[in-house]
Amino acid sequence: MTDEQSKDDGKRRWKGPTAEDAERVKERTFATKQKVKKGGIKKKSSRVWIERQLSDPYVRRAMEAGWRARAAYKLLELDERFGLLTPKMRVVDLGCAPGSWTQVAQARGAAKVVGIDLLEVEPIEDAHLIVGDVNDPEAIAEMMSALEGAPTLVLSDMAAATTGHKQTDHLRTVQLAEMAAQFAIENLEVGGDFCTKVFQGGAQGELKSLLDANFREVRYWKPPASRKQSPEMFAIAKGFRK
Ligand SMILES: C[S@@+](CC[C@H](N)C(=O)[O-])C[C@H]1O[C@@H](n2cnc3c(N)ncnc32)[C@H](O)[C@@H]1O
Repeated sequence: MTDEQSKDDGKRRWKGPTAEDAERVKERTFATKQKVKKGGIKKKSSRVWIERQLSDPYVRRAMEAGWRARAAYKLLELDERFGLLTPKMRVVDLGCAPGSWTQVAQARGAAKVVGIDLLEVEPIEDAHLIVGDVNDPEAIAEMMSALEGAPTLVLSDMAAATTGHKQTDHLRTVQLAEMAAQFAIENLEVGGDFCTKVFQGGAQGELKSLLDANFREVRYWKPPASRKQSPEMFAIAKGFRK
């Protein structure tokens, strides 16, 4: 467990990187930097992505702290502002790969975390993370079988693979957010909370009405860890009313 993670209180289960891991990360980062510098990475989009990763302070911080993705900081910032995570809660993490939101929920003392993703997630002790599609009722039932009660918090950081076509990407992410909202409304315990990634601009009317009708308070916010160039922001819906 790293110093940064241990500041997060509660029951800690993720042990964080070992000194050996940290050394390996350092070596790999250095080797990649050299490769980029020498023009060893040919495809422009890959080069741009790697350069952005290497110069991103959140990526470095996440590596050092043992979070599996820089996305951890988005949830930490959302939690700091809206008080989403409390000890003993039951959390559902939709679109959980590679697992940093699950790590954060556990670090905040969640009693149980279950999650689902199209991609395989390296196991996290005490979390039930399965491979599947949120559209598949059987996969959802398998995920929920380990929760032991209704969720107190539903999180969704789901994002469709981008096509490069802005409107298509926007619509696909809105659909995922609506799907997550439906799931939350069908499953949350009364008084529970929901937080989902949304994209700014257009096509969000339905989601907004759905959340307004079912929650005591709905807010929208872009955490500082969310890249400025990205259209993503988050809807935070608190106090589920059955
Ligand atoms: C931004 S990543 C999530 C990062 C994660 N919150 C973390 O902190 O590690 C978005 C994830 O949504 C997943 N996803 C997209 N569509 C999905 C679907 N229909 N069902 C399940 N997962 C989905 C993607 O596979 C991807 O791993």
